[in-house]
Amino acid sequence: MSDPLMPFIDLKAQYAALKPRIQDRINRVLDHGQYIMGPEVEELEQKLATFVGVKHCIAASSGTDSLMIAMMALGIGVGDEVITTPFTFIATAEMIALLGAKPVFVDIDPRTYNINPKNIEAAITPKTKAIIPVSLYGQCADFDVINAIANKHGLPVIEDAAQSFGATYKGNKSCALSTIGSTSFFPSKPLGAYGDGGALFTNDDRLAKAMREIRVHGQEKRYYHSRIGINGRLDTIQAAILLAKLERFDWEVGQRIKLGARYSELIQKQNVGITQDAIITPYVEPYSTSVYAQYTVLVRNREQVQQKLKEMCIPTAVHYPIPLHLQSAFASLGQGAGSFPISEDLSKQVMSLPMGPDLDDSMQLIIIDSLLKAAAI
Ligand SMILES: Cc1ncc(COP(=O)(O)O)c(C=O)c1O
Repeated sequence: MSDPLMPFIDLKAQYAALKPRIQDRINRVLDHGQYIMGPEVEELEQKLATFVGVKHCIAASSGTDSLMIAMMALGIGVGDEVITTPFTFIATAEMIALLGAKPVFVDIDPRTYNINPKNIEAAITPKTKAIIPVSLYGQCADFDVINAIANKHGLPVIEDAAQSFGATYKGNKSCALSTIGSTSFFPSKPLGAYGDGGALFTNDDRLAKAMREIRVHGQEKRYYHSRIGINGRLDTIQAAILLAKLERFDWEVGQRIKLGARYSELIQKQNVGITQDAIITPYVEPYSTSVYAQYTVLVRNREQVQQKLKEMCIPTAVHYPIPLHLQSAFASLGQGAGSFPISEDLSKQVMSLPMGPDLDDSMQLIIIDSLLKAAAI
């Protein structure tokens, strides 16, 4: 095939729409020259805190670093256990392990693919120090149930909201649903920078102070270090870009919700006639909205479907092909195949389609049509 693949996420169309605003914001940083912790960082933190509806926002260098900062602020370290899902990007469990703690995986809900709260309580031990649910693909985990379990056991909850910024759960925004919310501004995320970035959210003054200090080498004031920290700052230029992008973000969230619903509706309608149950569309709880960081379907013969779609110039991706307990990096946990059957089963079937606020209607119809043809093998 000589035709290029269509973009999986069309960041160029977004840039074209925002070009003057982004360039103006970047130029202002170049003019004032405060590349590290310039005024844009605080402006962004204030705007993001208002958007999410929490007291404090702490901008950070990435969604990986923000998870680490959150756990450091909670004092998590060697010998502790943190409960999380094996069906996520590695950063979630990687940061637990990097701090010397043990990720304790529990299996997921087969409909939402998020941690199944029913499995959490049995995994709590005297060593448990926190629960980290991941709001996967853009839909929040079931925080009312998770928070109730956490409260009963006196545990903090960190939402890994790297994929769900802008989503809502029972009317509240992702990142405002637990002790700490942690998100990512990786370029392809719902709110993406032009490089790495992340942010932390909390209503807890003490944790906010700790996270601010940890972000800058545990510094209370310049060169006075009250604790061990990291270099976890967001670049001023990335903050400036995010401020420009934030102006269009509500529209983008609306687009994502609309496009996700349209994908599901059209795939379900036509799937029945062509290949009964060959494609399973994402399930969104009636009390949630998803921002579809990934629009992910289940297909049975994934490799063949992906190959056929590639021949039709439609890119796809797999988030994620191997659950974390089966990754070599976590071999020392000793959890082999069969430990988390739902995660294992889904990892063989998930396939993400092109998605983004600038996906146009006609392109989406071509993707759906190609998918239905490819799945009718
Ligand atoms: C669920 C999840 N957690 C954490 C991260 C890490 O974010 P970042 O790439 O900004 O470090 C990502 C991003 O890829 C993610 O999807």
